[in-house]
Amino acid sequence: MESFTMKHPLLTIILAALASTSIAEETREPEMAALVDQAKAAAKALGGALKAELEAALRTGGPIEALSICQMKAPAIASRVSAEHGMQVGRVSLKTRNPDNAPRPWQADVLHAFEARKAAGEDPASLSHAEVVDREFRFMQAIPTAGVCLNCHGASISPALKAKLNESYPGDQATGYREGDLRGAFVVVKQLAP
Ligand code: HEC
Repeated sequence: MESFTMKHPLLTIILAALASTSIAEETREPEMAALVDQAKAAAKALGGALKAELEAALRTGGPIEALSICQMKAPAIASRVSAEHGMQVGRVSLKTRNPDNAPRPWQADVLHAFEARKAAGEDPASLSHAEVVDREFRFMQAIPTAGVCLNCHGASISPALKAKLNESYPGDQATGYREGDLRGAFVVVKQLAP
């Protein structure tokens, strides 16, 4: 039911595109390609900034120190990158640590589709999705789990870190991952002019 309501507006757009002249389609396609490029740049900027903070924190203080940094800085970094790129950028997951990162229904649908595409053999690092629904541009790009992520998202987390996680995130679901699993996705959203 959910996926039908998600696809219905998209179908409307596709039908409208088919019915419009080829000139209209030519302007629509480059616009979409430019938006996807911008969204990829924004997702890359967020990923890069988070990775730099994480690596610096792990080098100086270890995972417990890094955890506080992630907790304090991740939302602020997302706000800064969003402002700089003129698009709303964030991270979502089907198993969240911070409940603020829970996916909206269309985002959960895309995350499930990414899991299916990965199971069918696609490279997790290159899974992405883009669409326009009700003049909202929506982009998602999968985030695979790397070795370094297992410090805080893996199956065997040190007891001290586990205690700290429970303190800050009592409902933490984001553990038990293995390298190569899909940890979640970057989401980039932009409201388009009507
Ligand atoms: C030092 C511990 C630590 C490491 C290492 C770490 N994370 Fe996290 N991760 C966190 C914390 C803390 C949060 C919650 C941040 C917040 O409050 O927004 C989080 C949240 C996330 C989220 C947002 C969804 C959610 O569960 O809330 C994603 C996606 C994510 N991490 C991916 C990764 C990836 C990919 C790596 C490896 C490159 C990684 N993390 C490494 C601590 C860590």
